[in-house]
Amino acid sequence: MLLLNASGCLDALTAPDVARSLDAFVTKTVTPEPRAGNPPVRIAETSFGMLNAIGLANPGRAAFLRDTLPRLREIGVPLWVSVGGFAAHEFAETCAQLGDVTIELNLSCPNVDEAPESGAEIVRACREATASPLYAKLSPHSWDIGETVRAIEAAGADGLTMINTLRGVALDPHLRPSLARGAGGYSGPALRPVALAAVMAARRATQLPIVGMGGVETGRHVLELIACGATDVALGTVLFADSGAPARVRDELAGELEKLGFDDPGDAYCAALESVASLENSPKS
Ligand SMILES: Cc1cc2nc3c(=O)[nH]c(=O)nc-3n(C[C@H](O)[C@H](O)[C@H](O)COP(=O)(O)O)c2cc1C
Repeated sequence: MLLLNASGCLDALTAPDVARSLDAFVTKTVTPEPRAGNPPVRIAETSFGMLNAIGLANPGRAAFLRDTLPRLREIGVPLWVSVGGFAAHEFAETCAQLGDVTIELNLSCPNVDEAPESGAEIVRACREATASPLYAKLSPHSWDIGETVRAIEAAGADGLTMINTLRGVALDPHLRPSLARGAGGYSGPALRPVALAAVMAARRATQLPIVGMGGVETGRHVLELIACGATDVALGTVLFADSGAPARVRDELAGELEKLGFDDPGDAYCAALESVASLENSPKS
């Protein structure tokens, strides 16, 4: 099981030691052109999580390849590059230039107005452009996750990453949206049950590796995602509050495994899913 950061939740250049405490570092999403992102206010706290409307702010592909990627390589941790865009050819052109990294295709940003082409079309175009491992990052908003997952697998994805944020709105005391953009992406603890359900639904549809994320804060939360079918897990919002989370979560995970009598996180793999299946298969009275 790999422990990663969720895209956009860790800056490895300012916190290289935190990046090194993970099994791989995932970059903020890179788009073909530079993006300033949305106007402020772009972050709002809520009772059970955080809203962000960053809007894919990033220096763009050329500056990323020229300046950022070589510096990230020096950190010495395996790299995953999150790739974004608004048309399949844009994603594919970035993939073709990345070289030896794992690629996460951000098919699911809720904070931009431009609608991307269908996930499967994007994956197909990227598959033709690169031999690097391709993970597709999915939204929890999908109407039928199983159908989406099957289409993405058929298009050539090597794995899935899920979930991205849920769309949400917070209001200030004067009943105006706290974020300048109105809605933003909701992340943090409230996402956990949504993430578990999404991973479970995806695991019913595929045997591909799944990086699970959404509100993970403790070792127990890691194990729950694995029990629902995740093979790897990423830490997102928790990293803003606790940069020591990777080491802490690993310790807690070891404690949870001991409590349950497991040797390895893999022993919990699909445990929750199997118990639902056995209920479904039991004779109805
Ligand atoms: C401030 C912030 C910026 C984010 N930026 C990106 C991004 O650039 N690309 C992406 O795929 N996901 C992005 N995400 C979503 C996270 O990668 C993750 O999918 C989501 O926050 C759920 O995990 P969490 O509840 O553990 O934070 C961002 C999330 C936050 C909070």
